[in-house]
Amino acid sequence: MMALSQDDMKRAVAQAAIAHVPTDCIVGVGTGSTANFFIDELAKIKGKIRGAVASSEASAKRLQGHGIEVVSLNDAGDIPVYVDGADEITRHMHMVKGGGGALTREKIVAAASKKFVCVCDASKLVDVLGKFPLPIEVIPMARSYIAREVVKLGGQPKLREGFTTDNGNVILDVHGLSIMNPVELETALNQLPGVVTNGLFARRGADVLLLGTPEGVKTLTA
Ligand code: A5P
Repeated sequence: MMALSQDDMKRAVAQAAIAHVPTDCIVGVGTGSTANFFIDELAKIKGKIRGAVASSEASAKRLQGHGIEVVSLNDAGDIPVYVDGADEITRHMHMVKGGGGALTREKIVAAASKKFVCVCDASKLVDVLGKFPLPIEVIPMARSYIAREVVKLGGQPKLREGFTTDNGNVILDVHGLSIMNPVELETALNQLPGVVTNGLFARRGADVLLLGTPEGVKTLTA
């Protein structure tokens, strides 16, 4: 049998996530390469859903390209399920997200959704978060101040060069962290004036993890 590629695993979890989408609902849709596979799967059942709330301009464009109606979060009402990838996830369902820079809208749509289904290939499952640099979306005028505060917390911040978020802000990617208390760090970073969001999704983690492995899709729950 041919070995499964990373893309095969992403496609498999995207297909598996469709089982979590109720009929006639508005679906919360994440951002990134795995979320893109999910959007492509969603297109196959588009007659069964009312529309989608997108967590980025890029996902909105892809959804619309498939003829799926994109609804603003303010008009969506209750969202039963949000499907998105992660850059790292633990067995406790805590995540680092924002590699694609869409962390703020992702966190908002996730918070407004009843269930968070995380779709990842096996490489994303870790014991301790932090090897993947932690993204922080920052109001531009606060960039240097936040960078100094992050150094006090033990991290090495690096400005994501040439990148502006969908909200017009910048991203600091924080290297060198070994995050033993993700809920605490998420809260502490959110207290710094000028931080819009940080990429820790621990206070509101995933409810279900669909993990793509060479042996098939594994389902983990919180
Ligand atoms: C986007 O900002 C991120 O949070 C993505 O969800 C994350 O980077 C996962 O992306 P991939 O599915 O491309 O790995």
